[in-house]
Amino acid sequence: MPDAAARERAVAAVDARCRILLISSPKGGSGKSVLSRHLLVSAAQAGLKVIGLDFDRQQTLAKWAARRARTREAFPDFADTAVVPVSLQDWRGALRRTDSYQLAVLDTPPSVEDHLPAIDGLGEAADLILVPAVCTQDDVESVGPWVKALAGKGFTCSVVLNRANRRTTSYARMRGVLVKAGSVCPTELPQLEDIHVPSTKGLTLLDYSKSRGIEPFEEIWAYVRREVGL
Ligand SMILES: Nc1ncnc2c1ncn2[C@@H]1O[C@H](COP(=O)(O)OP(=O)(O)OP(=O)(O)O)[C@@H](O)[C@H]1O
Ligand SMILES: [Mg+2]
Repeated sequence: MPDAAARERAVAAVDARCRILLISSPKGGSGKSVLSRHLLVSAAQAGLKVIGLDFDRQQTLAKWAARRARTREAFPDFADTAVVPVSLQDWRGALRRTDSYQLAVLDTPPSVEDHLPAIDGLGEAADLILVPAVCTQDDVESVGPWVKALAGKGFTCSVVLNRANRRTTSYARMRGVLVKAGSVCPTELPQLEDIHVPSTKGLTLLDYSKSRGIEPFEEIWAYVRREVGL
């Protein structure tokens, strides 16, 4: 029987472990990088030590972070978020870079079918996989089977509906298909015309407390935080 001190050490070790949040979708342009950078900023604003790993060769997230670093030279009050470019070929090495952090947000390229062993390895390591999906037939056709496959492997995953418009019948239909396929995050992201504007300076909507459209990101962060146990 482990004694009380040993149990306490075991609990402390679990608490100290870096939580891994994998953002993955088979569909391009579904909102992986948008979601990644907003969650990075939320975590940093909450005072967590957070790192982004950019597995996409296009380095959308890493380039955003480089712009952010330049902006922070003049305005250091914006929360500090580290992002490193990494490769799916060396996903094990990439995961080792998360050791001294509390949360790692992993942004991935869309072509998951070409990298299944790496995505499986990252999925295994992940505390939660978020799968953004735009409410269109094309997205749902590929995301539905993808979510079922992830759940079949025993991974914890949740779809985040993006560019959602509750007033349309296609939204209700697509949402229904995805709810039947697996877990769906209770908060969706609406169409936000200005979402790309702060990105030009390496910022997000969350960096401006009065931005329109920050509530869904705050709610998704609260959901993620609870799901990964932070
Ligand atoms: N909720 C939204 N409202 C409006 N525009 C959005 C929304 N979410 C994402 N976009 C826009 O859609 C485009 C694709 O988003 P993003 O780059 O996050 O997708 P991605 O899944 O990372 O794409 P890729 O597969 O190419 O890496 C971007 O121009 C982004 O600004
Ligand atoms: Mg991207």
